[in-house]
Amino acid sequence: MNFQRGVFVTGTDTGIGKTLVSAILCRAWNATYWKPLQTGLADEEGDTPTVRELAGMSPARIIPPAYAFQAPLAPLAAGYLENVTVNPGRLVLPQVQGPLVVEGAGGLMVPVREDMMIVDLINSLDLPVVLVTRSGLGTINHTLLSLEALRRRGIPVLGVVPVGPSNPGNEYDIAHFGKTNILFRIPQLDAITETVVSGLSGHVPLLDVLQQQISQ
Ligand SMILES: Nc1ncnc2c1ncn2[C@@H]1O[C@H](COP(=O)(O)OP(=O)(O)OP(=O)(O)O)[C@@H](O)[C@H]1O
Ligand SMILES: [Mg+2]
Repeated sequence: MNFQRGVFVTGTDTGIGKTLVSAILCRAWNATYWKPLQTGLADEEGDTPTVRELAGMSPARIIPPAYAFQAPLAPLAAGYLENVTVNPGRLVLPQVQGPLVVEGAGGLMVPVREDMMIVDLINSLDLPVVLVTRSGLGTINHTLLSLEALRRRGIPVLGVVPVGPSNPGNEYDIAHFGKTNILFRIPQLDAITETVVSGLSGHVPLLDVLQQQISQ
């Protein structure tokens, strides 16, 4: 297990807050950011510039995506439209100083190749997971299903980050039934700025403390 190499940030859905959480983790841990599979560039600039700006990062701490596709679809479908098949040989961890924060695309069961989903990529990168979840109604089911999929593949989970209006009942049930920790929480925000990200980064546990907990 590449505990010392960093974390893989995945979520229970697309648009759940993975990019915001990634920016907060990069800021907290002075990490390098990598979004290996970016799609949807026809509609938006992608997550890499967003994280660089929100976390106030130097270009040296940004690894460009291995694949960047136009269509707002899963990587398999978006690549198909551009006659590109993802080569797993390009989805290997880059050598960097300090920890890596790797952001997935959508959730766990998202197709990357005919024979690979995001959860398989996590397995091959050998990184522990930070799971980003919605805070409100529906999250217990989505979060527990995602945790079960990770556990049955032997992928360690550092913890869960709920995003949205505070819901202590849901947090309790996720921690209890999912046998996991709430790492920190992100409230509903009016604006997402570098200052807000910097403030939230103060609530993030130290990476080596999390790594020690999970490797015990
Ligand atoms: N706590 C929050 N309060 C208000 N808006 C939020 C919050 N978290 C995320 N958002 C907004 O929700 C949208 C989706 O968030 P984000 O881009 O982080 O999701 P994602 O999981 O990375 O999506 P993708 O699957 O496209 O990578 C963004 O417009 C973001 O600004
Ligand atoms: Mg994102």
